[in-house]
Amino acid sequence: MTPLDPAPAIAAEALLRRWIGLDPGTVGHAAIRRAVRKRMTTLGLDDLESYTRLADADTLERDLLVEEVVVAESWFFRDPQVYGFVRRFICDRVTVRERLPVRVLSVPCAAGEEPYSLAISLLDAGVDPAAFVIDASDISRAALDRARAGRYTTNAFRTADLAFRDRWFRTDQGCAVLAAGVRGAVRFTWGNLLDETFASSALAAGRAPYDVVFCRNLLIYLTVEARADVERALDSLLKPDGLLVLGAAEPPIMKGDWVPAGEGAVFALRRGPAASPAMRKPSRRIGAPETRPPLSPNLPAPSEPVLAPAAPPPAPTPAGQPALQMTLRRANELANERRFPEALDVCADYQRTAGPAAEVYFLMGMIHQSAADLDAAEDCFHKTLYLDAAHAEACLALALLAGQRGDARLAQLYRRAAARVVARRGAE
Ligand SMILES: C[S@@+](CC[C@H](N)C(=O)[O-])C[C@H]1O[C@@H](n2cnc3c(N)ncnc32)[C@H](O)[C@@H]1O
Repeated sequence: MTPLDPAPAIAAEALLRRWIGLDPGTVGHAAIRRAVRKRMTTLGLDDLESYTRLADADTLERDLLVEEVVVAESWFFRDPQVYGFVRRFICDRVTVRERLPVRVLSVPCAAGEEPYSLAISLLDAGVDPAAFVIDASDISRAALDRARAGRYTTNAFRTADLAFRDRWFRTDQGCAVLAAGVRGAVRFTWGNLLDETFASSALAAGRAPYDVVFCRNLLIYLTVEARADVERALDSLLKPDGLLVLGAAEPPIMKGDWVPAGEGAVFALRRGPAASPAMRKPSRRIGAPETRPPLSPNLPAPSEPVLAPAAPPPAPTPAGQPALQMTLRRANELANERRFPEALDVCADYQRTAGPAAEVYFLMGMIHQSAADLDAAEDCFHKTLYLDAAHAEACLALALLAGQRGDARLAQLYRRAAARVVARRGAE
């Protein structure tokens, strides 16, 4: 066998699946082959079986392979509305003495963009740094080194409003360097969320349970079994009345008793007496035919790119952005109250006056999904991609839907498309 053969990637994929729960389709089989080849070249190995044996036995080599494969993609104030929402949640708690300090966990935290954004948000609101503790953890040691150093390139700043950068960073040799006051507000530790001791050691050390746990943009990369393990870990890490913050496509992954707790475009859950079955697992629309119609007549052949050609999204007007945010917030509030038709009406009203918007279609997809109307959800996710071909969350939502309907091949195609989008973003 040579390093170019696909077989070694299969063995490495099995290891990665076991160690970190990675669903190889989400990052792509070719990416895993490249990672293995790179490690072998570095080690001067040309025997694939020896490499696989080494990686399986040696934790240092395991970590280095993992490093080559993980997508440590993040940026400051990613999904900005999340931070306002969590800040308000925390501000309510810091006024109650018995609750101090309010504890937050960010896992995975990548290079610290997420926990630092929260720290900035709380400090900007005047919250006493002694009143909260932010723990942050990731499996990538390289990402954690970057986090501790607090030095960032322009890639970490992608939001429209960058006023926070002027307040909390200084420039040094082309990098933005985070102020010590913010760096000191976050404690970083290495951790594998798939490791069964992850939660128990945090509890034993008195770091957990947490008031808020951020677990965003990890579940989408994991196998079904690994997602269940992560859900169990998150469940034990969270206080009974704690808040779990997920990425946009992730709430339907959760199978336990959770209820929506977010607002606007915030995808948060808390434990509830009975999570709505629709939130837990989208099911077939009542009255829908047993045999599903094709997901989309426009789906390309497997060898072609999955994404629909991008149409230019409508140019936002100065008044358009606030209206868009208000629409998303209102529609999500209604959806959280399970007033799905009204939530969809709010979205439709917006599109009638302002024109089509990817984010609105995406939210409509999530609402249809919660209302168990899978066909309509798919239609909306396709429209999202038509307007914004680089909408990775819509690709992943389509992958989830296809997987839930038993179409593994299509799920794979969408995951690959999402992986390409994420890889492109990372290269920018
Ligand atoms: C796409 S980033 C998400 C970062 C951040 N939460 C966000 O949403 O911007 C995914 C991160 O998951 C980390 N990761 C992957 N598997 C993990 C595991 N089993 N335990 C902890 N972190 C993991 C990767 O190293 C990477 O930094």
